[in-house]
Amino acid sequence: MARLLYIEASPRKERSASIQVAREFLAAYRQSHPGDEVTTLDLWQTPLPPFDGAIIDAKYRILHGEAHTAVEKEAWRAVEEIIAHFKGFDKYLFSLPMWNFGIPYILKHYIDILIQPSYTFSYSPQEGYKGLVVGKPAALIYARGGAYPPGTPAEGMDMQKRYLEMILGFIGFTDLRPIVIEPTLMLGREEYAKMVETKKVAARALAAEF
Ligand SMILES: Cc1cc2nc3c(=O)[nH]c(=O)nc-3n(C[C@H](O)[C@H](O)[C@H](O)COP(=O)(O)O)c2cc1C
Repeated sequence: MARLLYIEASPRKERSASIQVAREFLAAYRQSHPGDEVTTLDLWQTPLPPFDGAIIDAKYRILHGEAHTAVEKEAWRAVEEIIAHFKGFDKYLFSLPMWNFGIPYILKHYIDILIQPSYTFSYSPQEGYKGLVVGKPAALIYARGGAYPPGTPAEGMDMQKRYLEMILGFIGFTDLRPIVIEPTLMLGREEYAKMVETKKVAARALAAEF
């Protein structure tokens, strides 16, 4: 039995294109993997500790090879719990909107907590940076109002897909399977429905062999 973590980053719920397509993925996944366990992490409903104060001091202690004070240790526990939860899965599904060419701040906050030396990546002068979350696939469902096709000048403005895939690669992911839903804000009602339908078909196919 495998465990799949679904990380949801749009607050628009029923109206969200990325969530609609992700739900299709999950329905197909449950059908084709009946013994697997699926957990949803709705980032908008998940309390994340502000990354400041004793938590940021604790991070720098690790970077400098120093021991945590009692206060830092206590504060750092929240970070450790979130990382342990994340790493406790075998497969991942992310759904996210593009916001100002990048990712929503709630997902950035989650990433700022997850990316920690000795937990999700390591560094040594001999080996450089090494990701520690390895051998796990991630399906990535992106929605954006405009279109950023590969090979066009607009591609350079896409810091959503590029950033998420870079940072997941940094912590060790190599098997990334994207579905891009675009341009959600530039189509008429019918065209939009058709475009989303094709993405749902793609999501179901991806889920079946995920
Ligand atoms: C705060 C905010 C910023 C946005 N910035 C961009 C942007 O930079 N580029 C773009 O193409 N669409 C942008 N959009 C539009 C969304 O990417 C688009 O509506 C997408 O479908 C949202 O995903 P969702 O439907 O899953 O919520 C923005 C939307 C919001 C709410």
